[in-house]
Amino acid sequence: MNNRQLVAEQIAKAVTDLDKDTIISLLERPKKSDMGDIAFPTFSLAKTLRKAPQNIANDIVEKIDSSHFEKVQAVGPYINFFLDRATISAAVLKEVIEKKEDYAQQTVGQGRNITIDMSSPNIAKPFSIGHLRSTVIGDSLSNIFKKMGYKTIKINHLGDWGKQFGMLIVAYKKWGNEEAVKAHPIDELLQLYIRINAEAEKHPELDEEARDWFRKLEKGDEEALTLWQWFRDESLIEFNRLYAELDIDFDSYNGEAFYNDKMAEIVDLLAEKGLLETSEGAQVVNLEKYGIENPALIKKSDGTTLYITRDLAAALYRKRQYDFAKSVYVVGQEQAAHFQQLKAVLKEMGYQWSDDIQHVAFGLVTKNGKKLSTRKGNVILLEPTIAEAVGRSLAQIEAKNPHLADKAAVAHAVGVGAIKFYDLKTERTHGYDFDLEAMVSFEGETGPYVQYAHARIQSILKKAEFTPDADATYQLNDAESWEIIKYIQDFPNVIAKSFENLEPSVIAKFAINLAQSFNKYYAHTRILSETPERDSRLALIYATATVLKEALRLLGVEAPNEM
Ligand code: ARG
Repeated sequence: MNNRQLVAEQIAKAVTDLDKDTIISLLERPKKSDMGDIAFPTFSLAKTLRKAPQNIANDIVEKIDSSHFEKVQAVGPYINFFLDRATISAAVLKEVIEKKEDYAQQTVGQGRNITIDMSSPNIAKPFSIGHLRSTVIGDSLSNIFKKMGYKTIKINHLGDWGKQFGMLIVAYKKWGNEEAVKAHPIDELLQLYIRINAEAEKHPELDEEARDWFRKLEKGDEEALTLWQWFRDESLIEFNRLYAELDIDFDSYNGEAFYNDKMAEIVDLLAEKGLLETSEGAQVVNLEKYGIENPALIKKSDGTTLYITRDLAAALYRKRQYDFAKSVYVVGQEQAAHFQQLKAVLKEMGYQWSDDIQHVAFGLVTKNGKKLSTRKGNVILLEPTIAEAVGRSLAQIEAKNPHLADKAAVAHAVGVGAIKFYDLKTERTHGYDFDLEAMVSFEGETGPYVQYAHARIQSILKKAEFTPDADATYQLNDAESWEIIKYIQDFPNVIAKSFENLEPSVIAKFAINLAQSFNKYYAHTRILSETPERDSRLALIYATATVLKEALRLLGVEAPNEM
């Protein structure tokens, strides 16, 4: 039972007019801590009881069994509850010591699957900062879902199909060089792609040629397939290098191409259900009744398929293969219309599970306040940027802790963690400015700040040679410990909230708050001095470190023991 439930239960015994749930919904958190931990305002009872709220508060306090609390007080129209710090701190600390990193593990998702469409870069194109956001957010959501008890399937829906591969094949056959592609696959293929697009402006027949090659590819032509496969393999080598740096993996790399032989079924189903209309030679599904103006384009006049056709096939495949309870797509806000169409078409097809599909959108990243643009040279190249973040972290570690063993590994954890944390602490629908210096700073609301608090605790525990004992009773009742205890106690709710809103930032903000209250505690309390509270204090910081590490893990960020 949590604190609010405990309070509500005691109020319900004293006020028979209200049920427990209504009481819970009325409970407030007092503005100041000297007003207690939880407050119950009596205004809403004034009308039915025909009494002044002040009097009601006094009456209720008389009837309440206060033995469960440190103190229960009527102050004007409010009843203030002071929780029993000693009892609660003992219970919370015991639970963390017993469960360790499994503390706050939940079971609501047991036996159910969630698919996560994430990362999904395009073959032969640079991995963008948007793809990085999708990768980092998707990975964190997967951790959060698992903490709620779900099984997750992380799917990298690679952009490895479409007319652009026709363009690439034509370009490669005309100007390509095998060695150059092998040396720098994405750079080289991108140059070929840019060149063929420019040429096609002047020579439209190139466009026709590309269309032919894509048609061949969709029909399984061997030469086309071999080239396509090679472009894909080379690009994946580059992407995988990045995933290794980020320490993020996938359960499936089934990209758009995987659905090539699964689209006919979708088109047939749509036709059977009478949903296809012909518009200027193309096959479309009208979605006006969903308030969507643009029809979904399923098949072009030349018979080739589109992005949404493959997404329809993918959705159906995923439902059959994984029987998902929820299917999320971590993709930039700019594709909102696409996902609206996707859901609407599935709904039209009669699939009730289309309601379980959710586009988890995120905002745009800028640099120096400006939109990123390859053309204008305002770009973020990920590999060099990660290397720079790691380098800057290393420099700070050298300054703070020159004798640290394994500096390179710690610097990597700090640099990569800094980039991830900065992204995840931002509410995902908001954008942010990519500011490497702010990201890797040990001060402010950053990953390194939280990691440093964790490492500091580890070093105190080591110095104290403290091992927590699950059978001992550790309890504390001072105001600073109490603040920390309340955060730790709230961790399961924080995770549940981040799950409901599909919002890792809830956990990132929690981690910052907890690290800040620890630092405050550390500044005020002589943890190591020989006092009767020493062990309880050590148990408190042990629990703090355990929860900080777990919060970081949910964000995909490592917590080194020393830094
Ligand atoms: N490849 C796409 C892009 O880079 C993202 C794919 C997102 N996933 C999906 N199932 N449509 O824009």
